[in-house]
Amino acid sequence: MTDVVACLPGDGIGPEVLDQAVRVLEQLPLDVEVVRLPFGGAAIDETGDPLPPATLSACREARAVLLGAVGGPKWDGGDVRPEAGLLGVRKALDVYANLRPATADGIDLVIVRELVGGLYFGRRGVLSDGTVFDTCEYHPAQIERVVRRAFELARRRSRSLVSVDKANVIDTSRLWRRVVTELGRDYPDVELRHALVDSAAMELVTDADRFDVIVTENTFGDILSDIAAAVTGGLGLAASASLGDAGPGIFEPVHGSAPDIAGTGAANPAAMLRSLALLLEHAFDRPELAAAVVEAVDATMISDPTPDLGGTATTASFGDAVLARLAREAVVG
Ligand code: NAD
Ligand code: IPM
Ligand code: MN
Repeated sequence: MTDVVACLPGDGIGPEVLDQAVRVLEQLPLDVEVVRLPFGGAAIDETGDPLPPATLSACREARAVLLGAVGGPKWDGGDVRPEAGLLGVRKALDVYANLRPATADGIDLVIVRELVGGLYFGRRGVLSDGTVFDTCEYHPAQIERVVRRAFELARRRSRSLVSVDKANVIDTSRLWRRVVTELGRDYPDVELRHALVDSAAMELVTDADRFDVIVTENTFGDILSDIAAAVTGGLGLAASASLGDAGPGIFEPVHGSAPDIAGTGAANPAAMLRSLALLLEHAFDRPELAAAVVEAVDATMISDPTPDLGGTATTASFGDAVLARLAREAVVG
């Protein structure tokens, strides 16, 4: 049966890097149909809605969602923002566990970021005196399900888990720490450590090799994953997989639409291609294809680096080189 991969190019470099992933996907030995759907600022321009109903229903029906990036100065002042489409599709598919791996020489960690709760989805508003508020809210069950996944992941890796919070100040963090501590009793084989987010941020910069699996709430995970990306080669390399309990996952780079380089051909498609590898592993259960893509991307970063890595390759020539390697290894036809 043909599997559909719903592709949401979005804005800025989103469509540029997504094109390279689609080229690879379409040549892999899989029975896949790629469907491109309007999303983000591009969809606002077309329909007024960053997540049009037809886009969302196609995502729900798909085997997996491959997403570029959204946003840009063009939509910054508007009533409806491209980013609302991104939050909307994450929430609608209930992909609560966002895996953000970061690897480099001596560093091999995964941040498990809670993706559909906290400050991003809490009650918000404006008081009569002009005060604006956002609220960070977590139900224990919301914490438990993502932390359980992090423990399971830690069990398959080095059996070490660091839970990051701000329990010295914030009530939701105190709840977070309590839930994690209780769950830890179910995983006596996993070494559990709690860390406060400020010192964890510092430790990521100075000693990232001390971490294996990190689990944290939505906002902290957003910030820590850009730090982890920065210490392992930059945002051009950082991929992610957003997974729920059932239904399609969303596979997207950690980076945004990079308006500063959009349209110049300088975008590094490695993060997008590594996100495709995560899709092959998690949505298609084809770890050998995932490994082949990662290998080809890693080799191409050395042979044909893009400007962020000090080279002169373009987004498309990087894609050419990845495909050529995959052809040499007889992975693609
Ligand atoms: P950004 O991640 O787009 O860019 C940060 C810096 O990293 C820029 O200098 C950019 O050129 C560089 N960079 C990012 N990806 C790169 C790549 N693949 N190759 C080479 N260089 C790369 O973050 P920003 O500039 O703060 O945000 C721009 C827009 O993107 C905003 O509208 C923001 O809301 C949005 N955004 C979207 C997502 C997403 O769609 N998942 C993620 C983050 C930010
Ligand atoms: C990310 C991005 C998004 C987030 C924004 C664009 C809504 O920064 O995926 O890391 O904060 O989740
Ligand atoms: Mn982010």
